[in-house]
Amino acid sequence: MAEISRFGISLPGDLVDKFDKLIKQKGYTSRSKAFGDLIRQEIIKVEWTEGKEIAGAITFVYDHHKSDLLSKVTNVQHDFQDVIISTQHIHLDHHNCLEIIAVKGDPKKVQSLKDILKSLKGVKHATLGMSSTGKEVI
Ligand code: NI
Repeated sequence: MAEISRFGISLPGDLVDKFDKLIKQKGYTSRSKAFGDLIRQEIIKVEWTEGKEIAGAITFVYDHHKSDLLSKVTNVQHDFQDVIISTQHIHLDHHNCLEIIAVKGDPKKVQSLKDILKSLKGVKHATLGMSSTGKEVI
C-alpha cells in the first residue's frame, strides 16, 4: 500500500459546507476518503482519454426477438475479444436480455465496442462503466 501523505488545503467555507453535506449523504465518514475518491475519478477520466490500459464494464439491454440481433451481438464480441474478459447474459423477461461485458485494455477500442453495440437495431440501452486497474499509464 502507498505511503500516506498529509497536506492542508484552503477552500471557501460555503464550499466546504456543501462538500460535507454531500459526502454525508453519500455515506462517507471522512473527508480524506471522499476527497481521495474525487481525485481518483478525475485520474480515471484522463486514463480513459489518454491511457493505454483501462478496465470497466459495458452493460446493455436488447430484445432478442429482433431478427439476427443475437448473432450480430455475438459477432461483434468475437471481433473485440482482445479487450473482453468475460460476458454475462441474463434473460430479463420474455423479450429482453441484459448483458454485462467486463472489459480491459485499450480505452479507444472499448469505447468503440460500446458504440457499435449501442448502434445495433434492437439494442435499447448501453452504458460504459469506466474504472481503472490503478496502474500508472499516464
Ligand atoms: Ni436472454
